[in-house]
Amino acid sequence: MNITENIKYIGVDDTTLDLFENQYAVPEGVTYNSYLIEDDKIAIMDTVDRRKSEEWMARLTEALEGRTPIYLVVQHMEPDHGGSIAAVMERWPEVQIVASAKAVQMLPQFFEGIDFTHRTITVKEGDTLSLGHHTLQFVMAPMVHWPEVMVTYEQTERVLFSADGFGTFGALYGNLTDCRAWPGEARRYYYNICGKYGQPVQQLLRKAEKLDIAMICPLHGPMLTEDLGHYIGLYDKWSRYEAESDGILIAYASIHGGTAAAALHMARLLREKGASEVTTIDLCRADMSAALAEAFRMKRLLLAASSYDGGLFTPMYEFLHRIAIKGYKNHQVGIIENGSWAPCAGRIMKEAVEAMKDVELIEPIVTIRSAMKPTDLPAMEALAEAMMS
Ligand code: FEO
Repeated sequence: MNITENIKYIGVDDTTLDLFENQYAVPEGVTYNSYLIEDDKIAIMDTVDRRKSEEWMARLTEALEGRTPIYLVVQHMEPDHGGSIAAVMERWPEVQIVASAKAVQMLPQFFEGIDFTHRTITVKEGDTLSLGHHTLQFVMAPMVHWPEVMVTYEQTERVLFSADGFGTFGALYGNLTDCRAWPGEARRYYYNICGKYGQPVQQLLRKAEKLDIAMICPLHGPMLTEDLGHYIGLYDKWSRYEAESDGILIAYASIHGGTAAAALHMARLLREKGASEVTTIDLCRADMSAALAEAFRMKRLLLAASSYDGGLFTPMYEFLHRIAIKGYKNHQVGIIENGSWAPCAGRIMKEAVEAMKDVELIEPIVTIRSAMKPTDLPAMEALAEAMMS
């Protein structure tokens, strides 16, 4: 399937995978993108997950029409992209792998027993490789999302092969430029996969500013062919940890319903007070990766959780751990705790919030005992007022 006159899409949909990275639900599937640049010297841009190796090799073989590839450009070694490198090496012994020094170093870690001697070309920032009429320019992108990552700018057709950057969840079913997954699934993908690495993403965006880009070809999801400023602007915002909405997410974890009732009461209060947007998420049932993305999207976060076993109810504990390791910052957080005899959830949530960089705790912390009562309403009102200011 051609995406330009000389560049073919040879990626594959994976519609049977339940958990991406063995942790993120992908009900709409995912793609492992790969491309073929046809020129005097044919280059393959990345491979695919081993799960789809056979299907991909068939596509690649068909696209080659009997020709022999010269280069395999490996932008990212993670197995969802590097999983079929060995298959290429075995099928075409003359193929040279083009990759960063770190990726070349990693190759034997993933493919024990394969001799890569004389079969790799190590490239660094700014190096170029002529295919004939096309020229590949390599741009190092360490920690977007692994240390060996690079992206590749093809100078003739002005295509940026962006590795995981600008990737989304969701299969394409042949609709290569269908961007309906933006921004929802792209945001969930970004914050869960690359969220920790905002600074490296910023560095890559600064490099990309110097390139005249007509098309972005990521390793997951649709190719971006128009309105590139919109997508780049979202990535800029996300990687600065800036909220997209001035609204409030209420994330709650309730054992028997008392905490949930307080959380939903607070949602009504905030709406009555004119909050621009209020969403609620039941952490006991929600997809944690979606909850995490929503926490980053909203400027303010209200946590409501029960005490449990002398600590914090586990769904909230997991949620806080997840947003912390993804570098949650530049947000404001309020807290409601519940406890029937010795409330301690609030202290643990407060400690977790205070350990985050540039996160402002909104007080007062509200404590309810088992269930919200009329006597709790003044404290709820005070917290709602503080959340609005
Ligand atoms: Fe799609 Fe970091 O691999």
